[in-house]
Amino acid sequence: MDNQQSHNILKQRMYDRLTALQQSHLIAHIETLRPEDQAQILHQAEQLDYSVLDPQTSEEQRGHFEQLRAVTLPEIAEKRAHYSQIGFEAIRAGKVGAVLLAGGQGSRLGFEHPKGMFNIGETRELFIFECLIRNLLRVTEEAQAFIPLFIMTSEENDAETRRFFSEHSCFGYSSRHITFFVQEQLPTLDTDGRLMLSDRTHIATAPNGNGGWFASMERAGLLEMLQQNGIEWLNVFAVDNVLQSIADPCFIGAVIDSGMTSGAKVVAKAAPDEKVGVLCLEDGRPSIVEYYEMTDEMRTRREPDGTLSYNYGVILNYLFRTDQLSQTLTKQMPLHRAFKKIRYLSDTGRIIKPEEPNAYKFETLALDMVKMQESCLAFEVERSREFAPVKNATGVDSVNTARALLRQNGIRL
Ligand code: UTP
Repeated sequence: MDNQQSHNILKQRMYDRLTALQQSHLIAHIETLRPEDQAQILHQAEQLDYSVLDPQTSEEQRGHFEQLRAVTLPEIAEKRAHYSQIGFEAIRAGKVGAVLLAGGQGSRLGFEHPKGMFNIGETRELFIFECLIRNLLRVTEEAQAFIPLFIMTSEENDAETRRFFSEHSCFGYSSRHITFFVQEQLPTLDTDGRLMLSDRTHIATAPNGNGGWFASMERAGLLEMLQQNGIEWLNVFAVDNVLQSIADPCFIGAVIDSGMTSGAKVVAKAAPDEKVGVLCLEDGRPSIVEYYEMTDEMRTRREPDGTLSYNYGVILNYLFRTDQLSQTLTKQMPLHRAFKKIRYLSDTGRIIKPEEPNAYKFETLALDMVKMQESCLAFEVERSREFAPVKNATGVDSVNTARALLRQNGIRL
């Protein structure tokens, strides 16, 4: 069969498939494209993950919630030396790796580059990536051992992120110990349930959320590397917390000492109605209940000592056992949809950059991985020392609130 024949067969197959899915508009204009552009869009259509069209995947039935105790600040203070010793031993034995989730689009911040490239300094340059690497270096310098750092990027920001690290000599981290990998994309849907084009030759897609990181590591062939190097624990964390404490020996030691299969850093809620996901039990397994899923009774219930029963909010800093994570690979993670501003090609052939959210993107969430673990240690940390998220340009969790927290922690801006 020659190239032209196989091209025509693929075209017909994709036309039939998309028609059956009521999405044939994606290639309705195909005859007007150059042969190489036809090949590009057909290839993308063939590879596309169509699970977003199945409403089952985005609906999740929740179970029975119960509170989960945390190991609290005073309890940790008492055993800090003991936990830290266990943690440092694990780090020095090469059993701990760190995973930076940097594939997000950071649309709320409205910064045109990867969020980690944002300069949070005022009188000098201080990039978010730099803040994170400095925090990690504090641990590796004390341990006198490097911790392998895996950085998840997206198709959109991979090249720029790698270039930035290289231009800044990895902010003093050893490049030999940094491995980049790219997460997968999922198609986006408009409000009529139609897949979208981002231009005449591409179907619109967005990064598939922060819950797919381990599956993406597997696809990138990194699980063998974990195994060969004896990495038993992975500390996964978000790019946008500039006070993020990474590979914290005390946290690692506490989780190992507890015998649990995972751990989550948590902060006590500032108020019963704070908009934060809370670590709890769901049908007896560790889980995170979102603030909007909690009833008033759950939100306000208190323990005899006066603390809220559902008190501990997650900050996207988890420790997972790699052997347990391998078991999660066979399970389908729920897809959550988010209404976002998504650039698209209009029916009249114009590329529209919307000012307001116009379409849905679909994401798996790291918090759903917690539910797949047998047990999870909730490890309380001080909010003012470890949690300074940069989500928005102004207001709550913004550049200014993060700057104030950095200053409070003695960091010169
Ligand atoms: P957010 O949930 O804040 O998403 O990410 P975002 O895409 O960065 O920002 P908005 O919602 O568009 O403003 C929390 C963490 O998960 C990572 C982010 O980079 C951040 O570290 N993330 C998010 C990914 O790595 N991949 C994704 O697909 C989404």
